Amino acid sequence: MSDKKLANKHEIVEKNVGLMAILTVFAISFGALVEITPLMFQEDTTKPVDGLRPLTALEMEGRDIYVREGCYNCHSQMIRPFRDEVERYGHYSVAGESVWDHPFQWGSKRTGPDLARVGERYSDDWHYAHLMDPRSVVPESNMPGYPWLDSNKVDTSLTLKKLQIFRDNFGIDKASPKYDGKGYGDDNELLAQIAEVDSMNNGTGATEMQALIAYLQQLGTHLK
Ligand code: HEC
Repeated sequence: MSDKKLANKHEIVEKNVGLMAILTVFAISFGALVEITPLMFQEDTTKPVDGLRPLTALEMEGRDIYVREGCYNCHSQMIRPFRDEVERYGHYSVAGESVWDHPFQWGSKRTGPDLARVGERYSDDWHYAHLMDPRSVVPESNMPGYPWLDSNKVDTSLTLKKLQIFRDNFGIDKASPKYDGKGYGDDNELLAQIAEVDSMNNGTGATEMQALIAYLQQLGTHLK
């Protein structure tokens, strides 16, 4: 094929916006598939890391409060593998830590710090004070307070369903169903977890604040 013929073919695409658009979409899609497809079959992106455990009933409700309140609008849960991030937040996030995170909370906006490894960094009391009024512990903070979480009780009417979905779809190991002393095997064990949540605060039930703090305190603590 001569150079001239090749040049002519190029012209066909360049002068036809529709064709150009279709080929562009095709090229990008193909590139994406080449990058994404192998990840679906790689063990370290699809298998939970050693030590990852399912959320307990209380943490599960806390996760949903985190989503409801839109904490992800200001906080990411994804430590990138760069030195400045690792020195500030700890070991970078690995895929095997979020295989059970549906919907994942990686986020893309950091008005506040990354929370991927905030678990166990502060006491429950610190979180309580901070969520009630962030400026009581961090004077320059521009994070809003969430005082209503302290008076709202956790609604456990759907918790069993959430735990069942978790257990039945994400390959939770039913042979060793105790996580943090909490059973995850049959429905009775799940119901026992929920009963525990309902019995908190002298039987009046857990507050949304307690659930959210429980969720925060386990974030990023599983990677050994
Ligand atoms: C408008 C943005 C914004 C929203 C929404 C927001 N935060 Fe924050 N958050 C911040 C900022 C800024 C900081 C840093 C200052 C501070 O510690 O208060 C922060 C700090 C934190 C910290 C301390 C992190 C650390 O490593 O010191 C935690 C925990 C936290 N936020 C949890 C939450 C939770 C849970 C929610 C949802 C209920 C939430 N935030 C919603 C902006 C926000």
